[in-house]
Amino acid sequence: MTLSFLNQRRSTPSRQLTAPGPDDNQLLSMLQAASRVPDHGKRVPFRFLRIQGDARHALGELLAARKQVLEPEASASLIQKERERFDFAPLIITVIAAQGPDEKIPASERYATAACVCFALLQAAQALGFGAQWLTGWAATDSEICARLGLAADEALVGFIHIGTAKLQAPERERPDAAQLLRDWQP
Ligand SMILES: Cc1cc2nc3c(=O)[nH]c(=O)nc-3n(C[C@H](O)[C@H](O)[C@H](O)COP(=O)(O)O)c2cc1C
Repeated sequence: MTLSFLNQRRSTPSRQLTAPGPDDNQLLSMLQAASRVPDHGKRVPFRFLRIQGDARHALGELLAARKQVLEPEASASLIQKERERFDFAPLIITVIAAQGPDEKIPASERYATAACVCFALLQAAQALGFGAQWLTGWAATDSEICARLGLAADEALVGFIHIGTAKLQAPERERPDAAQLLRDWQP
């Protein structure tokens, strides 16, 4: 039963996500489940930033303005695409990783924990009947956009998790054949 759920996991493209999104209780249950990740040193090296309502479009406007600065020759349609990027799913949860100095746990391991959170959040959303997609794009690593989202210099934006009701069932894509990826180590 559990394995069959895992085998049905798939993303729903953000453009196919619409209202209603999870209510506050559902969201908190999802975030609670997503926080049960392996975490070397129990650092809890992640936090969440919720983007919903008008804030989604405001973020799109930021992206559009920034794109215009970065690429002054960008076409109007490309700028419009940036403007609409967060307009589809009713809710976007931004997962942020702590990457500052740590005497024992490398930044890569703390990033790995935050990436597990993103994946666990996708699963939790699907478990509650919602569609979700993990997106990054250029904005996730743009220092100006990250600063406007309130990230500190020693934080990384690991993913925008778009969550909502799927307008249609996403078609299955070809999946890797795990048997082909498996080798035995020969000492
Ligand atoms: C770190 C990360 C960043 C991603 N960023 C994007 C992105 O910016 N745009 C995109 O189209 N897909 C992106 N994807 C891929 C989608 O999340 C998703 O995997 C894809 O739509 C295929 O769906 P699936 O999860 O059912 O395989 C990203 C995936 C990961 C793990």
